[in-house]
Amino acid sequence: MKILFYDTKKYDRQSFQLALRHFPDINIDFTSSDLDPITASLAQGYDAVCAFVSSDVGTRTLEILHQMGVGLVLMRCAGFNNVDMEAATQYGIQVMRVPGYSPEAVAEHAMALALACNRRIHKAYVRVRENDFSLNGLMGMNFYRKTAGIIGTGKIGAAMCRICHGFGMRVIAYDIYENPDLKDIVQYVSLDTLLSDSDVISLHCPLMDSTHHMINKNTISQMKDGVIFVNTSRGALVKTQDLIDGIRMHKFASVGLDVYEEETDNVFEDRSDEILEHSTTARLLSFPNVVITSHQGFFTQEALEAIAHTTLQNAMDYRDGVEKPF
Ligand code: NAI
Repeated sequence: MKILFYDTKKYDRQSFQLALRHFPDINIDFTSSDLDPITASLAQGYDAVCAFVSSDVGTRTLEILHQMGVGLVLMRCAGFNNVDMEAATQYGIQVMRVPGYSPEAVAEHAMALALACNRRIHKAYVRVRENDFSLNGLMGMNFYRKTAGIIGTGKIGAAMCRICHGFGMRVIAYDIYENPDLKDIVQYVSLDTLLSDSDVISLHCPLMDSTHHMINKNTISQMKDGVIFVNTSRGALVKTQDLIDGIRMHKFASVGLDVYEEETDNVFEDRSDEILEHSTTARLLSFPNVVITSHQGFFTQEALEAIAHTTLQNAMDYRDGVEKPF
């Protein structure tokens, strides 16, 4: 089976080359180009393509993949908001993904962001390097005995609940389904109550029509003054301009973002010598209480190993006609 891997970096190639030892029937070619309607034609002669979070797997791309004879799109990630699933069905292309490669990887990064922005680690690090040992502006708050509000308690949200519980926090959560595994440590509440009662809010639900811009002017206004807000899920869950307005109005003690609306052109590129015009990311970065990372929640050794193994197993299951839950 021949698979073309799009948008690959050195670390992707390493983890997939290692996993490939267990899958002798698979041949892989890597390209650094991302998948979109222009690059889709590179897939001629391949059985499958493998794409990632910033790939454009929309109708036009799928149409071209279909014309190229590709029958399978392997997403090497959990989220699939960038895939037009209806179009995939229409063109008879199967889509497979890696639903839960390492929930702890993302949850631990969410907590790392919460702690870093709370204690201004990004500022402290730079100051001390310049022999500036002053503390002005670095004061944070204890997490112990504060309330953590977790939105979405699937695999990653559940891991985040366990971490917050371990910090001695009261953990409240909002989800359209309650997770029975969390009954001893989490109290489910309405979204309104979560917003008004939480000292730390962390997003862990998928991006869908129903969750698009769920954090907006209205929901921000319901939050406590001085809240810490973290998003490691998807950028478009948050209306960025409303977040910026909230930060300007001193609503937030701090904000930690691993994902943000404008990220598609940035992930995972070095754009340090460019002038980014009209960038709301630059505006966000201008605030002292905001920490942004570049969609690296998934980026641990364990997660990359699991992603590589599951993606290649998905390819084999597709070839062998094994039915799998999406
Ligand atoms: P999951 O499918 O296990 O859990 C998602 C949860 O969100 C479910 O419990 C679902 O009921 C809930 N949900 C759905 N609609 C909701 C709504 N309107 N309000 C509240 N909750 C709602 O997904 P998992 O594995 O926990 O991943 C969550 C998200 O994390 C993914 O969709 C993806 O966007 C993001 N992610 C980010 C990564 C990163 O590197 N920063 C890596 C992996 C995933």
